[in-house]
Amino acid sequence: MTMFSYSSSKVAISACFALVILCFRSNVASAQKHTAFFIFGDSSVDPGNNNYIDTIPENRANHKPYGQNGFFKDPTGRFSDGRIIVDFIAEYAKLPLIPPFLEPSADYSHGVNFASGGAGILSTTNEGQAIDLSTQLKYFEEVEKWLAEKLGASEAEEVISNAVYFFSMGSNDYLGGYLGSPRMQELHHPEQYVGMVIGNLTIAIQELYEKGARKFGFLSLCPLGCLPVMRALNPKAGEGGCFQQANSLALAHNNALKTLLNNLHYLLKDFKYCNSDFYNWLQDRINNPSDYDLKEGVNACCGSGPYGGVYTCGGTKKVATYELCDNANDYVWWDSFHPTERIHEQFAKALWDGPQASVGPHNLQDLFFDHEIELTIGDIVDIITENEEIV
Ligand SMILES: *[C@@H]1O[C@H](CO)[C@@H](O)[C@H](O)[C@H]1NC(C)=O
Repeated sequence: MTMFSYSSSKVAISACFALVILCFRSNVASAQKHTAFFIFGDSSVDPGNNNYIDTIPENRANHKPYGQNGFFKDPTGRFSDGRIIVDFIAEYAKLPLIPPFLEPSADYSHGVNFASGGAGILSTTNEGQAIDLSTQLKYFEEVEKWLAEKLGASEAEEVISNAVYFFSMGSNDYLGGYLGSPRMQELHHPEQYVGMVIGNLTIAIQELYEKGARKFGFLSLCPLGCLPVMRALNPKAGEGGCFQQANSLALAHNNALKTLLNNLHYLLKDFKYCNSDFYNWLQDRINNPSDYDLKEGVNACCGSGPYGGVYTCGGTKKVATYELCDNANDYVWWDSFHPTERIHEQFAKALWDGPQASVGPHNLQDLFFDHEIELTIGDIVDIITENEEIV
């Protein structure tokens, strides 16, 4: 009897030790092992890749007043008054800023950003003026090689399977690529075109999955018809309001994306993703800015003409003059196409730890940190089993 109670208290003591070791272990693990962040996209998430390619002035933002809020010393190429959504996500994930792929001698070890202003999911979108999705995927292969050389094959593989892959693309396929192209509209019905865009996105996701990628994040499309540029182009401008056809395409795309991700979740083992409804989220801020500590949901801070919808911000394009608001923090829209840093930050927060009802099935916090949680549970089982054997 005495022997028995003695030995069970010893088990309890060992379990306590196990917990101490466990905490120590996972701290060490998280200090060494980070979750890398890879970004594919267009101007919504371009950190400056377009500074390094030959393109039109419309696809560049490396001049004032871009970046004017002073977070970055000089304009970086971000299409914002300051930071963009992926900068905030990197910060929440305790990563450094993720560099543009084309930046010379960039360090890719925490991930890399391939996004390019003007880019589409389809290679026919703004052809020759931006880095399209299939080229962004080719660049990813170069990064795979870079990681394998730097870390060795097996550690590089682990970085790739543990990384989060974020997509923010599609707007250009519908704006310039479809509504701006009478030929495309002649060739394809809207539903068929959406199918092509989603089909090509599917290929990209599958390609990454085959390379080992498991965790994906998506920024769905905003109400494209309510961009200041689209309001200004609205054929029913007299009635005011958003360009309905552009909004319908964005909604059709978002619905198809939702269905696709749900299917992939069943078809691909361990495929995990974060998606959310950016359309209604932004629409609400456009219609009711004062509910969100904003003042202006319709007009752009920087630009000219009706709604600030004439894309002259910065004066580097055909027209050298433009208007600039006093306080971009009051605005939803920074320029004719792009939201302000405040919107980027608010949506980053929503994706990071939003409840399952609005972000899901996983939020980004889950995706960046889940590996550690799984490890910890595994460790508990291992260590307790080991201790029982000793006793
Ligand atoms: C990808 O896009 C091209 C047009 O750029 C189209 O011809 C092709 O069918 C699309 N692929 C899929 C799988 O939808």
